This record gives sequence, C-alpha cells and structure tokens, in this order.
Amino acid sequence: MRSKGPLTAIIVGAGHRALTYASYARKHPDELSIVSVADPRPLRRTHAAELFGLRPEQCFESAEEVASRPQFADVVINGTMDHQHVPTSLPLLAAGYDMLLEKPFATSVDEMWQLACAARRHERRVVICHVLRFTPFYAAIRQQVADGVIGDILNVQTVEHVSYHHMAVGFVRGKWSKKSTCHSSMLMSKCCHDLDLISWVKSGIAPRSVVSFGSNLQFRPENAPEGAGTRCLVDCPIEADCLYSARKHYLDHPDRWRFYVWESLEHSDHPTIEQKARSLETDNPYGRCVWKCDIEVVDHQSVLIQFEDGSTATHNMVGGAARPSRSIHLIGTRGEIQGVFEDQRFVVRHIDPRPGREYSEQAIDLTAGGDMHGAFGGHGGGDMRLVADFVRVIRGEPVSISTTGLEDSITGHLIGFCADQAMEEHRIVEVAPQEFIPCP
Ligand SMILES: NC(=O)c1ccc[n+]([C@@H]2O[C@H](COP(=O)([O-])OP(=O)(O)OC[C@H]3O[C@@H](n4cnc5c(N)ncnc54)[C@H](O)[C@@H]3O)[C@@H](O)[C@H]2O)c1
Repeated sequence: MRSKGPLTAIIVGAGHRALTYASYARKHPDELSIVSVADPRPLRRTHAAELFGLRPEQCFESAEEVASRPQFADVVINGTMDHQHVPTSLPLLAAGYDMLLEKPFATSVDEMWQLACAARRHERRVVICHVLRFTPFYAAIRQQVADGVIGDILNVQTVEHVSYHHMAVGFVRGKWSKKSTCHSSMLMSKCCHDLDLISWVKSGIAPRSVVSFGSNLQFRPENAPEGAGTRCLVDCPIEADCLYSARKHYLDHPDRWRFYVWESLEHSDHPTIEQKARSLETDNPYGRCVWKCDIEVVDHQSVLIQFEDGSTATHNMVGGAARPSRSIHLIGTRGEIQGVFEDQRFVVRHIDPRPGREYSEQAIDLTAGGDMHGAFGGHGGGDMRLVADFVRVIRGEPVSISTTGLEDSITGHLIGFCADQAMEEHRIVEVAPQEFIPCP
C-alpha cells in the first residue's frame, strides 16, 4: 500500500532516536505524517501522542501488536534498542511495512542475514540510519571519490575519539556497557558508522580479511583512585578531584546527555537540580563510580581490513579523549583527502612533481553558511537529511548520493562482526562473500 499525500509513519520505540527522526513530520507535514506510536512504556506513548496529536486508538503497546493488525500506514520508524531491532522488524516486514531502522541493525551475523532475508522475501525496503553518510561533510567527500578526484583508493584511515563524557555516559555507566544485556559491542554500537563509511568509499569492492585488537584499559576496579567510593555523591572522598565525577558530568552540565541520564525522571517535565542530585545519590546508574561499573566492553579498539583489490583500511576507536573527534584520510592513486568532521573542513591534495613543488592543496570548508550544531542540526545535519532521503526512497523519487539500501549496510556491519570475532579469537577472520545471503 502507499497512501496519497504525505507518507504515513508509525513510531516503533518512542525513545530519543525515533522521536528525533519523527520530528521531521512537524517541519514537513506535506511529506511525512506520524499516524501511530507503539511502545510498552505508557509515559513514552503519551509523550509521542501529545507531540503528534494521536488519539488513544492510534497508540499501541508493542511492534508485535501493530504487526498483528492489517497494514494501516506506509512505513515504520523503528527506534528500539539494538537487540530489539530484528525481533521487532521481522513481523512488521511480514505485515508489509517499509522501514527506517536504527543502527546497528542486528547484533550478530545470523540476525543480520535473518533481517536481510525477510526484507528480500517480503520485498520491503529497509533503510538503516547511517546518519553520517547524509552529513554535508561525508557526502562531499564521497562525491569527490565518485568523481575520481583522487583516483583509486589505496588506503582509508578513519579514527573516532570518543570523548571522556560520551564514553562514561554510553559505555561505562550507560546502556551499552554490558554486552550481556545490550548485545552490541562498543565497536558496533559506536563505530558501525565509520565501518559503513569505509565500505561506502570502497563501494563495489568487497572486504576480504579483518584483524582487530582492543581491550578495556581504563575502567577497571584496580584503576580506581585510592579511596574512591562506589557512588560519586554518596561515599566518595575524592569526588572533588575526579575527572569522571557524576556531579561534574551531569549536574554541572545538566543538559548534556539528558535523554540518557535523566531517563528515570522522565515523569517530571522539568526535574529540579535537587531531584537530579537525589537521583544520582540513589538508584540512578549514572551516579556510579566509573571504575566500579564492571563494564563488558572495550574502551579502545583498532581494526585493520584488507579488500579484495589489495587495498587496506584502518579504523581506530579510542574512548576517553578530551575532545570528541572523527577524522578521515583517504589516499588514492592520484591524490588524497583528509579532514576532521568536527571542523567541517577537509583538504584535497594532488601530487605536483614540478620543480620547486611537492603537492597542491584545496581546502573545502563546509562551515560557510552555518555552524554544524545550529544550521546543520543533529549529527552535523545527518539526522534530518536521512529522513528527507528516506521519504524520497519510498516515494520512488530521485535520491541523494548518500542513499543506503540494506544490502549496502551489510558490508560495514559484516566488517564489524568479523573485527569483534578477530579480537576475541586473536586471529585473522576471512569475510564471507557479500553476495552470499543464505536465505532459506
Ligand atoms: N544513528 C545514530 O547515530 C544513533 C545514535 C544514538 C543511538 N542510536 C541507536 O538508536 C537506537 C535507540 O536508542 P534510544 O536511546 O533512542 O533508545 P531508547 O531505549 O530510548 O528507546 C527505545 C524504545 O523502544 C521501546 N521498545 C522496547 N520494546 C519494544 C517493542 N517490542 N515494541 C515497541 N517499542 C519497544 C522502549 O520502551 C523504548 O522506549 C539504539 O539502537 C541505538 O544504538 C543511533
């Protein structure tokens, strides 16, 4: 089915991410209309219903409940957590919905193929939220590569420095700190974007082998400063000197990461600083000592990939950096591209063998016309551009260079799963051929 007028969408998992994408409907009601919400948490259902003017009969308790009804919308925006992506998507694909689905879209190779097979069997389109592809910065770099500006790519180097406060909130105190409950590694939950970017610039050339090393070096009980307590605001005599003090991270910066840290206070529209302090003192997981959280993920990991044309790529993920940053350096047969995402600027260099010269350099500055957090919006402009592109994909209209089908997203995810296996088993892992999708 495909309704006339704006694309009609159901929010499945009314958390921070799905509501961010759904907000596109408020800005572009002629393109997208939110007609329903499904979430087991009454507070989140009510919140989404208020935002989008939904009646009680348009609100459901789960993806499964939506899927059990005859199809009543064009698409689903699936913003459930990592391990819920495949179980919630399978019945919705069978019910006829195309889907915008958060990353990582699966938590294992088997799950990944399960979803890919279901999409193929039901002839559904699934677009994965690889938001970085849609940022002006990475789209411009990809365009340069597509135009042959640097020739064939010999080597790709990507780096993500995850800031100390992002590391603590996401992977130490937060939802992605224990693989046994969230089912994703840090590499997959944080850097499947970078692995997707590597696959994207190497489009059409399959990865062949992967090796990887990593560990949790910092956030271990034996590294806790002498005398450290278990809860920063309760029993820690060294809190005032600690770089990871919950007071400094979450009370002195009350809006930073608020959708994670103050989740337990969601019932209150504007929690007071006293309520927040009380929460950190009692049951809030973000009030815990970072060295005593028993994390099950790494805090740094390096990945080395060899492609079938002999070219190579590396990705370095390091948690705990002072400044958050993502960088990329592509070296081709004719030139190179180097840039830092947070600077919104990259340079294109070309070999210049003339006397007195070495290379030429052209700077491309994407800040001209607006700063990345203001004018561009979330994820350097990627979030809203992704939704705009998704609408065009479903309407069958011309799409952007950043468009990603499920088959494209498989390559980057496959590299990530192989890298984690390589790290855990201390060996080189051969990547199964991309075209091999073992559908029953
Ligand atoms: N693209 C990006 O750059 C980016 C950035 C951050 C997070 N993410 C990903 O976005 C996803 C969502 O993250 P979040 O922080 O918004 O999560 P969240 O926990 O805030 O929201 C998930 C919601 O899903 C609901 N839910 C659980 N089971 C359900 C079911 N069966 N049917 C319907 N709803 C169900 C939960 O009640 C919850 O409200 C994660 O996979 C995360 O890794 C992506």
